[in-house]
Amino acid sequence: MSKTWTPESWRQKPVRQLPTYPDIQAVEAVEKELKSFPPLVFAGEARNLKKKLAEVANGRAFLLQGGDCAESFAEFHPDNIRDTFKVLLQMAVVLTFGANCPIVKVGRLAGQFAKPRSSDTETVDGVELPSYRGDIINGFEFDENSRVPDPTRMLKGYSQAASTLNLLRAFAQGGYADLHQVHSWNMGFVASGAQGDRYREMADRIHDALAFMEACGVTSTNTPEMGRTDFYTSHEALLLPYEQALTRVDSTSGDYYDTSAHMLWIGDRTRDPDEAHVEFLRGVSNPIGVKAGPTQTADGLLRLIDELNPENEAGRMTVICRFGADNVEKHLPELIRKIEREGRTVVWSCDPMHGNTIKSTTGYKTRPVDRILTEVRQFFDVHQAEGSYAGGVHFEMTGQNVTECIGGAFEVTEEGLSDRYHTACDPRLNANQALELAFLISEMIKKERGNGTAIAAAS
Ligand code: PEP
Ligand code: CO
Repeated sequence: MSKTWTPESWRQKPVRQLPTYPDIQAVEAVEKELKSFPPLVFAGEARNLKKKLAEVANGRAFLLQGGDCAESFAEFHPDNIRDTFKVLLQMAVVLTFGANCPIVKVGRLAGQFAKPRSSDTETVDGVELPSYRGDIINGFEFDENSRVPDPTRMLKGYSQAASTLNLLRAFAQGGYADLHQVHSWNMGFVASGAQGDRYREMADRIHDALAFMEACGVTSTNTPEMGRTDFYTSHEALLLPYEQALTRVDSTSGDYYDTSAHMLWIGDRTRDPDEAHVEFLRGVSNPIGVKAGPTQTADGLLRLIDELNPENEAGRMTVICRFGADNVEKHLPELIRKIEREGRTVVWSCDPMHGNTIKSTTGYKTRPVDRILTEVRQFFDVHQAEGSYAGGVHFEMTGQNVTECIGGAFEVTEEGLSDRYHTACDPRLNANQALELAFLISEMIKKERGNGTAIAAAS
């Protein structure tokens, strides 16, 4: 590493989007406590994810990243975790089966608490208060006390992340994710819709294929991979005191890892290479994502990538593009040309959510499903034209039957938004909308990569 890096070297750099805590000693006490807590993930797991992302970068697998915009303390419930995990499994199986392509599953889960904001304050009915910055920082309620940043929220965040991760590990490894359960993931309100029927048909075919393989002697008992899945966690590395406190030296490699999640990403507002967030992340060895919005330039992206991945290690960098529908052709080709021409290896992923947020006529922040789909489609088209791989998608979604994004086969209307609008931050796809998109994306991957047989054979 060219310049000296330490877990706290970010403190010497300009920083954006961090809260100003009123009591610095209280922050230091929390940091000290967090430093004594066990790591949430192991370095070896982060390395495994990096290897898988290297396969994605080389067009041999596809990245599915998704979950809440902001996890909240109030919505913390095992059923919510299970339902989000279940929809991600359903989406992954749709993509695997439809496109014959291995899917790398990464949740925005078990630590996605801190939120960057466009404005430091929020005004409601003439009252101006500090903005809500996520449950790990301050409270959602619109009153003065709740909006004061409270460092002890970091301890609660850690504890919720630990229990969430524990349950996710149990689901992924303990039988719930067994492919034989493919029918049982399709329960409740999803099963009764159009996507439910389509999913059921696919599940029948998978079931038949499994029965055939069992007759040939391949079972979950002698092939344990069939009975479990690999599931990884990620969040935006925004709250640097928390991330630093969970950064540890891995005894196997001697390298630093941020053990708060397998993968961390840098948001579109904090990606300046001369500032604190980039400084912090350049020194940890986890896979790293960087958001690229309409203001990212090709030279800026190259510099950022070189700062974060000077060795050009495959799987280290994921560029998460979020331009907004109709803006993709304007921005993406020049980024791809520059990065590919300079020989940098990255995963190109598409976040079709953050560039497509609008205000509904009924006053809600929403996202039209057709705009989301349009951005994904344009992303695939540009990659096809440039000869690069559309490597992944990044969604804000939930397993709950919410009404936050408009459109989709069930046609959530602007008037219907108020029925079940539960998000603590941005509008999320509900399970039906997420599944509908997965079916459409599986067609796009198939088109981009042929029928995928060679891809599956190579992995
Ligand atoms: C997010 O992913 O929740 C987010 C805030 O994204 P961006 O940094 O791209 O605006
Ligand atoms: Co968001």
